[in-house]
Amino acid sequence: MKVTQTTAALFAAGATAAPSAKIQSRAACSSAVTLDATTNVWDSYTLHPNSFYRAEVTAAVANLSDASLSTAAAKVADVGSFLWLDSIANIAKFDDAVADLPCENILGLVIYDLPGRDCAAKASNGELAATDIAKYKTSYIDPIVAKIKANPNSAFALLIEPDSLPNLVTNSDLATCQAAASAYETGVAYALTNLNLPNVVMYVDAGHGGWLGWDANLAPGAAELAKVYKAAGSPAQVRGFATNIAGWNSFDQTPGEFSGTSDAQYNSCQNEKTYISKFSAALSSAGFPTHAITDTGRNAVTGLRLEWGDWCNVNGAGFGVRPTSDTGDELTDAFVWGKPGGESDGTSDTTATRYDSFCGKDDAYKPSPEAGAWNQPYFEMLLKNANPAF
Ligand code: BGC
Repeated sequence: MKVTQTTAALFAAGATAAPSAKIQSRAACSSAVTLDATTNVWDSYTLHPNSFYRAEVTAAVANLSDASLSTAAAKVADVGSFLWLDSIANIAKFDDAVADLPCENILGLVIYDLPGRDCAAKASNGELAATDIAKYKTSYIDPIVAKIKANPNSAFALLIEPDSLPNLVTNSDLATCQAAASAYETGVAYALTNLNLPNVVMYVDAGHGGWLGWDANLAPGAAELAKVYKAAGSPAQVRGFATNIAGWNSFDQTPGEFSGTSDAQYNSCQNEKTYISKFSAALSSAGFPTHAITDTGRNAVTGLRLEWGDWCNVNGAGFGVRPTSDTGDELTDAFVWGKPGGESDGTSDTTATRYDSFCGKDDAYKPSPEAGAWNQPYFEMLLKNANPAF
């Protein structure tokens, strides 16, 4: 995410525009938070509508091309979502996000800056080279650890490095993923060990049902997560895994969206609920904690993708179910908004360095800006197609 001058200014404005009813000053949270990762913390904490997304949405409301959407659009600012710390510079977002965190809310943070990031695609290639593991530790993870330690009375949910370990399972034929493999495993283990703090609960990214849910991928996927978890010393604050982050899969559509395809017989995880159940069982055998969170931020409309693996700015999408621990499924701790809806998945500009052909496919919305940058028409589309409606 690029912080433009405009965005930064709006950010400040958004922070002060937050509704006052639920806001308590940090001093009001007078005791240290201890999260028990053997329980579902989402039963006691609400995912925080962080001030950064609030500012983006507030700006979007002011820029609506369709004014009739205004009342509905404003409500999106109150939805909890994860804040992506996607670069060393963007660790700075932490301070504003924690400043208005009510005691009953949990701040969701995405840890996302591995060396050689996004090794199987181009849209989210990061700032660190595959060899930059020392910098990842000292300039990225260590400062985040320090900030969390400085806020012992606040609760944090961490989503660890989207796509990284799944890429090592299924894309090890790519030179870019081979080059990054060691840094991914060392980096994720370092993150898990050092972020293992009492006021933190962690979920390691596990792709989605159309990725590690293939019959042949379940056991290797579980083995990969367990290997890194054990290398980290089996940290107590790891609760399990995250699925469908920035994804499009329905939680429980039956038969699944891609159940009718010719290769469906090789994938018994045709919706995220089934994937969570089956991957959880594989993780249990491998010795990894078995509970999950899943992203419902943009999965309201199905039947849009030409192929299951299409991941970039899917055209026709809508905001999905709001964050809740009321999932009806014991293994699924919570529905969360992982990807901030309205932020792009990648640019459709074919001349850009980070242009990825998936963002040019017929089912991708165009034009779209660089990954993380705000796409106003896309936000309006998500809103119009939201289910439940706003
Ligand atoms: C981008 C990040 C961004 C995140 C959330 C990712 O695809 O690479 O820069 O923060 O999406 O929008």
